[in-house]
Amino acid sequence: MDKDLEILLNHLREKRGFDFSGYRPAMIDRRIMRRFSATGCKDRTSYLQYLQRHPDELDLLVDVLTINVTRFFRNTLAFDYMADRILPVIALEKKTRSDPSLRVWSAACATGEEAYSIAILIRELQRKEKFHLAINIFATDIDEKVLKRARRALYPYESIKNVKYRLLKRYFEPKRKRFQLIPKMREMVDFSAFDMMSQKGYAPPESVFGHFDIIFCKNLLIYFSFAHQGRIFDKLYRALTKGGYLVLGRAEVPTSEYRNRFRKVNECCPIYQKV
Ligand SMILES: C[S@@+](CC[C@H](N)C(=O)[O-])C[C@H]1O[C@@H](n2cnc3c(N)ncnc32)[C@H](O)[C@@H]1O
Repeated sequence: MDKDLEILLNHLREKRGFDFSGYRPAMIDRRIMRRFSATGCKDRTSYLQYLQRHPDELDLLVDVLTINVTRFFRNTLAFDYMADRILPVIALEKKTRSDPSLRVWSAACATGEEAYSIAILIRELQRKEKFHLAINIFATDIDEKVLKRARRALYPYESIKNVKYRLLKRYFEPKRKRFQLIPKMREMVDFSAFDMMSQKGYAPPESVFGHFDIIFCKNLLIYFSFAHQGRIFDKLYRALTKGGYLVLGRAEVPTSEYRNRFRKVNECCPIYQKV
């Protein structure tokens, strides 16, 4: 990594506590360049000087670096598979073992759509099967701003366009051309800040002990170099219960070190089971 970029990332870490040093340098560069035209800077050196003179620019830089794009039931196939083949199996196993709770973690949840999507699927299954389990869904992100929006759960059409009409009617309320999740659903998810690069703990402190049945970590690994992906996999592996499921983004796979510790559940979607 070149010197200017390193100084810039150190500055960001000192001032905001965000550590982007594991991100792919080419990705960071592309993103930072977007701020050049907005600030009238022509290269990284002048942008660094600008940053030091304008502390507010740091927030805008964090915004372009943390890419928050998401939507309900993103990668519908994986969610359909979860609803048809995984959740019913987990529910049955829990019943047989008298295990009273189902634990889910959406790591890098952005504005919360992923966590609420799984909450909806669990509710739907509960309606059908009438099973009684304590449902604990934790959702985390490095970016406090998106977490605030996640807790509000008020979404534009673009976010909900994969939601089936009957689910939209059942779980959302229209509100000024947008759609808000009903309070009963909002209460199902516990949102908190957690940095997947941090060395402090392998699971969100709010979850106390990890031990998750399902973890979603979608579209986060793609931004990191392989070496840093390993650090994330270490967390995911430790936080999952044996036999638990890990859902990745479409372009993501376990690093070589973890390839044999997970079994891909089918050919069509990136869902892995801890062996
Ligand atoms: C593209 S979104 C993924 C949202 C959702 N998982 C999905 O696939 O639709 C990536 C999210 O990762 C978060 N993020 C980036 N670096 C992170 C880190 N080190 N720890 C936790 N979250 C991070 C960003 O703030 C952003 O909200």
